[in-house]
Amino acid sequence: MNKKLAIAHILQSCSKEPKHEIGTFFAPSNIALCKYWGKRDTELNLPNTASLSISLGDLGARTTLSLNSKPVDVVFVNGKEFDKNTAFVKNLLNFLDYFRSYPEMYFIVKTEVNIPIGAGLASSACGFAALVGALDALFGWDLSTSQLSLLARMGSGSASRSFWHGFVEWEMGIREDGMDSVGVPLNIRWPELRIGLLILNAQQKILSSREAMQRTVLTSPFYSVWPNTQDVHLLRLKNAIETRNFLELGETSEINALAMHALMLTACPPILYSNPATLEAMHKIWQCRQQGLSLFFTQDAGPNLKLLFLHPEQDAIVKFFPDLNIIAPFMSRG
Ligand code: DP6
Repeated sequence: MNKKLAIAHILQSCSKEPKHEIGTFFAPSNIALCKYWGKRDTELNLPNTASLSISLGDLGARTTLSLNSKPVDVVFVNGKEFDKNTAFVKNLLNFLDYFRSYPEMYFIVKTEVNIPIGAGLASSACGFAALVGALDALFGWDLSTSQLSLLARMGSGSASRSFWHGFVEWEMGIREDGMDSVGVPLNIRWPELRIGLLILNAQQKILSSREAMQRTVLTSPFYSVWPNTQDVHLLRLKNAIETRNFLELGETSEINALAMHALMLTACPPILYSNPATLEAMHKIWQCRQQGLSLFFTQDAGPNLKLLFLHPEQDAIVKFFPDLNIIAPFMSRG
């Protein structure tokens, strides 16, 4: 099935005309603890494995959508008209094409994003989720959150997890049309959990995660071990979350991220998102652990690290990382 048919299937009984003048939606950003890296269907963004994330509370995207009476799409990001040649805007506009009821339907998209864009901080995940939510609000479709997750997944895979707070599993699904490849919240709270964003470079990444994961799948001789590794890590993580076993959560998340980056190094040509500051920070985290702190990290398609720790150790950790942007994922609400 292609994307057009899959979207039409979900929207089959939905209005083609906007019900309201504007539609607004907030979606939190999410960080994968068990990564999505590789697709079995690149058109529908169907993953080779399940993945599991934690949402970032109030950090994310709030998108407001309305029709434009002029024959042009306009995109504002944080109050400024955004260059249509940037990957972020191009991808959003290409995806919007699937939702135009007629070719002359143009949109004004206003997005407020409170994280750096394209720096491996899941701006595309919250960006696509907020766009789909805003479409639902504008057209008055009243879709379920699962249906929104299915739609957003076709914009960017990780967006399927950005509709809930807390832990979310993106089930891999087995259907060819992807209708069972959807985000599912775990509904487990862990109020002491903290995520520290360690921004080492907020610049846009040179290679998108989309290209990098595809290159890894196609060229890494070790990719075949990834799905089994994921199964083991996912089980361990779910167990750690259920039993509130932080050491197991931290260790598994860190190993999972390092395994993904190790795979990328074996792609051809190799992919390396880390820079010297990333490696320095990793060593510092391992030193902290040697000194008895329960501090772990995860890393996505960029040089920045996301630190994982529990609230009682926050003061000690901030002494080592004074610039940490700390998120309490179960305290704040977007
Ligand atoms: C490293 O969801 O951005 O953040 O589906 O091609 O848009 P596309 O990829 P994307 O990839 C995210 C990769 C990751 C891991 C993760 O979020 O699970």
